[in-house]
Amino acid sequence: MDFLELLRKKRDGGTLTKEELGFFANAAANGSVPDYQLSAMLMAMYLNGLDARETADLTLAMAHSGDLADLSGIEGIKGDKHSTGGVGDKTTLIVAPVAAACGVKMAKMSGRGLGHTGGTIDKLEAIPGFQTALSRDRFMQIVNETGLCVVGAAGGLCPADKALYALRDVTETVSSIPLIASSIMSKKLAGGADCIVLDVKCGSGAFMKTEEDARRLAKAMVDIGTRAGRRVAAVLTDMDLPLGTAVGNAVEVQEAVEVLRGKGPDDLRQVSLVLASTLLQLAGKGSREACEAMAEDALKSGRALQAFERMVEAQGGDVAFIRDPSRFPKAKCSAVLPAPQSGYLTAMDAEAIGRVCVLLGAGRHTKEDAIDPAAGLLIHKKTGDRVKQGEPLCTLLCEDEAKLPAAKEAYLRALRFGDTPPKPTPLILDVIE
Ligand code: URA
Repeated sequence: MDFLELLRKKRDGGTLTKEELGFFANAAANGSVPDYQLSAMLMAMYLNGLDARETADLTLAMAHSGDLADLSGIEGIKGDKHSTGGVGDKTTLIVAPVAAACGVKMAKMSGRGLGHTGGTIDKLEAIPGFQTALSRDRFMQIVNETGLCVVGAAGGLCPADKALYALRDVTETVSSIPLIASSIMSKKLAGGADCIVLDVKCGSGAFMKTEEDARRLAKAMVDIGTRAGRRVAAVLTDMDLPLGTAVGNAVEVQEAVEVLRGKGPDDLRQVSLVLASTLLQLAGKGSREACEAMAEDALKSGRALQAFERMVEAQGGDVAFIRDPSRFPKAKCSAVLPAPQSGYLTAMDAEAIGRVCVLLGAGRHTKEDAIDPAAGLLIHKKTGDRVKQGEPLCTLLCEDEAKLPAAKEAYLRALRFGDTPPKPTPLILDVIE
């Protein structure tokens, strides 16, 4: 097949056949088409869209671009969770151990940061020693022994998504409903879980800025998953401001551990609990109320924290950092940003805040960039808070002092102040089954 012909077709608004989408997915997986042509196709898809049939065909082609996980060696019901991406979104680090503590086996594949959003794999790798590339046998063994294991999409699963994800991250082609739906659902289908809960984020820090788009994405993914015979639900959650107060990698692990200890920010605990209880319900663990009570008890009793510690240990991480998060290496430079004026914080542009984190070194500008695990932000004031001039708004963390002036300026540009408090917005918008 001539890839230039496919490029012309999509560039000019045509629809690609199942065979053509299969060729594209396989080319991404085996490297037979150069990155610049794959990127051009991604941009053509981003600009001209894919219809429902093309999206479903692309998803299946990506899922079949590598191995399909056979989880039959894991006893019991297998669960998975995926987020469409947010800022400060560390819910996997809480949902997976809560679900495991309630008897759902979490055999989970996660991603790295994408655009302005963070990724679970980058966060977990901030724990010294933690291994996210494991052989299939070791992965299954850990799930059977500890109830959960989180790895990167390595080991031959979905190589097409691996290649395309890295290109989309650095070509501004992320926020497209068909590309996100096919990326996420190809991994979920190849990952082999029986039950999948999707966290579809909506707002300034999400790829979907409006509730309408978030609903369309949620429905597209639930539809693909259900057609493939999986139990899938999507929770629509607010991402108009960062989740919790820590944004970065090591700082997010520390905040997740706080929630596992029964403390931590309320918004983060609430979103994590609704995701965990939805997954428990999909897994047939009982009514909504019973599953909510079960998830809360897993946190309160410390069983979820124990499950997380078991996973960290099994994946080679130093559990001493989880028991005493103050041991995480500190960023070389830190700077407190004072409020320029008094009033209410009426809005935060969460995407802009995510980009500040990338600027500080917590995310990537190019595929080859290494991230700084200690870089990030600690947010002291959030939307709705009253602030006095000079009060700390946030603490910026990075390796290199030269990054601070631009980061401070960009953070301030992301905020709006006013004389009256903003109308509160709901954190959980809907559950779509
Ligand atoms: N998460 C994914 O795995 N893929 C996307 O495209 C967006 C979020």
